[in-house]
Amino acid sequence: ERRSAEPFKIKTVEALAMLSRQEREEALKKAGYNTFLIDSSDVYIDLLTDSGTSAMSDRQWGALMMGDEAYAGSKSWKRLEKAVRDVYGYKHVLPTHQGRGAENILSQLKIKHGDYVPGNMYFTTTRAHQELNGASFVDIIIDEAHDPTLEHPFKGNIDLKKLENLIYEVGAEKIPYICVAVTVNMAGGQPVSMKNLREVYHFCKSLGIDVMFDATRCVENAYFIKEREKGYENKSVSNILKEMFSYSDGCTMSGKKDCLVNIGGFLAMNDDELYARSRELVVVYEGMPSYGGMAGRDMEAMAQGIYESVDDHYIAHRIGQVRYLGQQLIDQGVPIVRPIGGHAVYLDAKEFLPHLQLEEFPAQALAAALYLDSGVRAMERGIVSAGRDQKTGQHNKPKLELVRLTIPRRVYTNNHMDVAADSVLSLFQKRHAINGLKMVYEPPALRFFNARFSPV
Ligand code: F0G
Repeated sequence: ERRSAEPFKIKTVEALAMLSRQEREEALKKAGYNTFLIDSSDVYIDLLTDSGTSAMSDRQWGALMMGDEAYAGSKSWKRLEKAVRDVYGYKHVLPTHQGRGAENILSQLKIKHGDYVPGNMYFTTTRAHQELNGASFVDIIIDEAHDPTLEHPFKGNIDLKKLENLIYEVGAEKIPYICVAVTVNMAGGQPVSMKNLREVYHFCKSLGIDVMFDATRCVENAYFIKEREKGYENKSVSNILKEMFSYSDGCTMSGKKDCLVNIGGFLAMNDDELYARSRELVVVYEGMPSYGGMAGRDMEAMAQGIYESVDDHYIAHRIGQVRYLGQQLIDQGVPIVRPIGGHAVYLDAKEFLPHLQLEEFPAQALAAALYLDSGVRAMERGIVSAGRDQKTGQHNKPKLELVRLTIPRRVYTNNHMDVAADSVLSLFQKRHAINGLKMVYEPPALRFFNARFSPV
């Protein structure tokens, strides 16, 4: 097979920090062994998140200069609204400062105390807003999603049987909407099939339940459909995306991922009445419906980014780069979540460090060891992220104990991926020497951000 390269060339560069091992050791200690607390000036390759970390194109940087900063009726807002309508197909759009701003407004408007919001695995901020408004989140993702070793082309799919059971138990009138994430971040960046989206939509509509997408990584989902679902292999990602959204009533969007910008988001819907009510809340929490917490220049960059994100060459390279990293690890026998997802490679820390108890925070310890070894920064997604049970006060113990190597869009070359792979491989060879951690400071809420640890 012929090799292919990045479908872009580099116009501006940013120097990377190259610390010595001793300097990294000091930085890690200072950060309480929590990668969230390491200064970016001490990080060599930053794989903490793909959120807001994309490189913008020359056209996006050019668009920044075109920002119309009028308080009301900005031209830049019109351009963003048109881009969302063109590419996503919704009738109404409201800008928000980022994804959770849209989640807040949607949750407030649709949820009543005692409601249930089913979804395909939780995301931290999404669930927090649902719960703040009095709803219980119910996980209705297929069972396969909870097993990191299982190969399945659409591990993000919704289990219609679980949805039916919930409706049978609580009644459709207690379910204001179902939240469908495309792709599913916490399951490892796993996609939902078009068939599943279609079935879920028709089933929900027959019962009067709305379907709202968490569209954060929707272009990546569309690419997986093109690759894996019969009948879509010759369709463009942009056409597939339009069909996906036709099976929903609206969406929340974190523009910091698939819209290729550093900040921004939106709430979109087709219903006129919901739109009218959303306009009233957007002014309370975000800003005028014509900027919603974004500068005019940010809206220009996002409009341009939305069009660039559905370029077939761009998205093929994006998913290809994640796979390039993941495949090297698979080839060397490193346990990672299978199949390789859209935005990240997830190390299975339970398998990687079987000598550690869950209470010794294997994923946190592995992320710390990776930083110490090479300056590559990853993120714990396991027992620390899952927090404590509100009632019993015990640690929540999710089945998945993972370290996420998240790839920013258009930022690193495959040489950087090689460095990350080499570091993981060298740790894997001496994995028995990696010790656990104990938590010495635990914040009451969203503890993973600020918790501090020390070696046991
Ligand atoms: N939904 C999903 C699936 C996400 O991954 C995120 C953010 C949000 C909603 C919230 O969007 O950050 O713009 O308010 N995920 C980031 C991450 C933080 O690192 O995975 P936001």
